[in-house]
Amino acid sequence: MTSTKCLEVKTDKSGELTPEGVAAIGEGGEILRHNGLVAFPTETVYGLGANALSPEAVEGIFRAKGRPGDNPLIVHIAHWSMLEPLVKAIPPEARQLAEKFWPGPLTLVLPSSSQVPQVVTAGLPTVAVRMPDHPVALALIKEAGVPVAAPSANTSGKPSPTAAVHVLEDLGGKVPLVLDGGPVGLGVESTVLDLTVSPPMVLRPGSITLEMLRDVLGQVDLDPAMAGMDFPHSHKQEAPAPKAPGMKYAHYSPEAEVVLVDGPVEEMTAAVLDLAAARQRQGLKVGIMASRETVASYQGFFTLVIGSRQDLTTVAVNLYSLLRDFDRHGVQVVIAEGFSWQGLGLAIMNRLTKAADKIIKV
Ligand code: TXA
Ligand code: MG
Repeated sequence: MTSTKCLEVKTDKSGELTPEGVAAIGEGGEILRHNGLVAFPTETVYGLGANALSPEAVEGIFRAKGRPGDNPLIVHIAHWSMLEPLVKAIPPEARQLAEKFWPGPLTLVLPSSSQVPQVVTAGLPTVAVRMPDHPVALALIKEAGVPVAAPSANTSGKPSPTAAVHVLEDLGGKVPLVLDGGPVGLGVESTVLDLTVSPPMVLRPGSITLEMLRDVLGQVDLDPAMAGMDFPHSHKQEAPAPKAPGMKYAHYSPEAEVVLVDGPVEEMTAAVLDLAAARQRQGLKVGIMASRETVASYQGFFTLVIGSRQDLTTVAVNLYSLLRDFDRHGVQVVIAEGFSWQGLGLAIMNRLTKAADKIIKV
């Protein structure tokens, strides 16, 4: 057991770190340079960082999270010059995308250089890199002076952490320092784009949508395992194997059973009601994950509102914390409404289908 220190890191009105924030970043940088672990906020979710160039440091991440060793990590950088030593080549698409979307929630998979330890890439010839758009993350990486390997800072399999308290719930006693930069802005992990194949392929959908990537690159494929629409009726086992190693694992799962109901809003709402009533009759504590537009249909049931169908950014930002909230309320079965499969909806539905024990298509 380690005792975990949690330090708030705040910025002032002009976006500069406060003196206390600067001191906290100093502590974090020091720990990373000595191959220890630091949890920190990014714009997507909280990350659990280690010096990406030290195999021992990176092994600590796998131990703390209970993460399978065949699931590679994303390396986080704070400026463009940190990319060159990590990769064999920088294709023109990487420059174009970085210019438009970095810092930001886009991870690029590129041919790895020999400097990147095998434990980071899980032995793959490629490395995933991103520049996060968060003042605390950028300051920490600069302070450490090394690229920072960081998966989401949750116990493997649990919903990703969107606030420092979630990190403490999962990793308290396992990491020396959590930097608390407040709740995150986006709530779903970065888009992972493989630039080592032609056309480029999205391995994990995120806030940088397929549509946005196609605007820049023209043709961009979606890993068929992420498309969802091809297999909404089937069991997960029948779905094609995903190309990002991490996407094959059970994920984002609260303690409660999760049933996802997907379909046109009216039919979906009716099916959610039927299912909630049926499960309640079985004596189970049921919770409905509803949208602002549909919540009025579920009177008499325990509901939590995830956000608005009119603005899916509200849904993305609340998704993981709501899954944790249902557990806190002792809910045994969460019945979750489905959303659009377009734009940011694709990332939301990807996470929901992975969190779900069962998917019902109406
Ligand atoms: O937003 C994010 O990306 C967050 C924050 C902390 O930056 N990080 C994150 O990391 O979500 P993690 O480890 O939870 O997810 C990384 C995903 C996994 O699905 C992994 O398999 C995939 O990226 N990945 C990493 N390296 C890869 C590679 N070389 N080739 C293919 N997929 C890779
Ligand atoms: Mg993760």
